[in-house]
Amino acid sequence: KTVGILISGRGSNMMALVDAGIPVGLVASDRPDAPGLAWAKDRGIATIALSPRGIGKAAYEAQVDAALREAGCEVVALAGYMRLLSDAFVGRWRDRIVNIHPSLLPKYKGLDTHARAIAAGDTVAGCSVHVVTEELDAGALLGQAEVPVLPGDGPDTLAARVLEAEHRLYPRVLKEFASR
Ligand code: GRF
Repeated sequence: KTVGILISGRGSNMMALVDAGIPVGLVASDRPDAPGLAWAKDRGIATIALSPRGIGKAAYEAQVDAALREAGCEVVALAGYMRLLSDAFVGRWRDRIVNIHPSLLPKYKGLDTHARAIAAGDTVAGCSVHVVTEELDAGALLGQAEVPVLPGDGPDTLAARVLEAEHRLYPRVLKEFASR
């Protein structure tokens, strides 16, 4: 199945998915200056930058939805996409949206996952790929990868270690998900 990827920034997970040979029909960003957008465009991938600014969330999501369908996407992969999708959008793409989250869910939903893992004294951290539902970071788990938390780790060093694991986990899980 063709995958549409939603990003907001750097896009390193999107790059890992593209580099793994996943068929990507569209990369959409809610920020026109997202570095990942230029990277995708350079590779001949269809890109679009849309934001709710001035038009509102419902109209924005309708445009994203239309662009995904026009590009032939049947699965949506969130990759560092920093907005919450509405219940209506999630409903239209029921069980076809996946996300990567930088924690071992159900631990540390939401933001600042690495700082929270360190503050809790965790010795193991990691990332999770899950189905997106109306509830934040709570849909069915599709895969997880663990990394050690090392003595002296701060949020940045831990984030870098987890990110490497993300780049291995997401393509593997999404390939499976998009071919079933
Ligand atoms: C990743 O850590 C991802 O798990 C989280 O946001 C970060 C996005 O990084 N949701 P990138 O844009 O894929 O480089």
